[in-house]
Amino acid sequence: MLELKNLSFSVEENGRQKPILRGLNLKIDNSRFVVITGPNGSGKSTLAKLIMGIEKPTEGQIFFDGEDITDLSVTERAKRGISFAFQQPVRFKGIRVHDLLRLASGKDISVAEACDYLSEVGLCARDYIQREINASLSGGELKRIEIATLLARQTKLSVFDEPEAGIDLWSFQKLIRIFENMRSQIKDSSIIIISHQERILRIADEIVLLTDGGIRKQGSADEILPALIGTAAAVDACERLK
Ligand SMILES: Nc1ncnc2c1ncn2[C@@H]1O[C@H](COP(=O)(O)OP(=O)(O)OP(=O)(O)O)[C@@H](O)[C@H]1O
Ligand SMILES: [Mg+2]
Repeated sequence: MLELKNLSFSVEENGRQKPILRGLNLKIDNSRFVVITGPNGSGKSTLAKLIMGIEKPTEGQIFFDGEDITDLSVTERAKRGISFAFQQPVRFKGIRVHDLLRLASGKDISVAEACDYLSEVGLCARDYIQREINASLSGGELKRIEIATLLARQTKLSVFDEPEAGIDLWSFQKLIRIFENMRSQIKDSSIIIISHQERILRIADEIVLLTDGGIRKQGSADEILPALIGTAAAVDACERLK
C-alpha cells in the first residue's frame, strides 16, 4: 500500500518559494488501478517524481507497505518494488533494447521473451531487439520500449506518466488493451497512471483529480467521469464561442 501524508513540494523562484504540491493526502491500496488526471501544470508529473524519489518533498511523508520511504533514494525504492515510466523517456547510450529488458526483469530473459514484451507494445520485435537506446529511436518507439520494460519488471507499484503521449492512434488501441490486461491480472500489485485520456480513465478503479497542486476530487470512474467530461465539454464550448 502507498500512503502520502500531508505531502508538499515547492521550488525557489526569484528568491521566493513557489508551491507546486500542497499538502496531499492519498492512500492507494494493493490491487488498485488508479488514474491521476488534471490540467497541464497541476503537479501530476511532480507527484510521480516524489513517489519514485526523483524529487524530495518539502514537507510530509511517503509510506510504502508501512515503511517510511520519504528519505530513500530512487534505487532503494526500486528495490522495494516501485517502478516508473517517464512522460519523456530517458535515452541510454550504449545499451541495447534486449539489455534494457534484461535489466528491467532482473533475469536473463531470452530473445523470444524479450520479443513478446515488445510485441505487446506493438513493436515488430526482431527489428528492435538489438537497437541501441539512443537518438535514432523515435519518441513513440522510445515510449513503447519504456512501457515494455515495466511489463518485464512486474513490480509491486508501477507508475506511468502519460503513457499515451506521442503514441499513434493504432498503437493507442493496443495500449488500452495492455492496460485492460494489467487491470484484469493485477493481483497484489497496484498501478498508477497519469493520463488525460478518457479511454484510460474508464479503466480506473479510482480517479484522482489534481488541480493547482491539490486533490480536488477522488472516487470511482462512475462518480468522477461525468463531471470531468462535463467540464471538458464546457471548456470546449467556451473555446468554440471565442
Ligand atoms: N523544478 C521546478 N522549478 C520550477 N517550476 C517547476 C519545477 N518543477 C515543476 N515546476 C512547475 O510546477 C508545475 C507542475 O508541473 P508538472 O510537470 O508536475 O505538471 P503536470 O501536471 O505533469 O503537467 P502536464 O499535464 O503538462 O504534464 C508547472 O507549473 C511546472 O512549471
Ligand atoms: Mg506531466
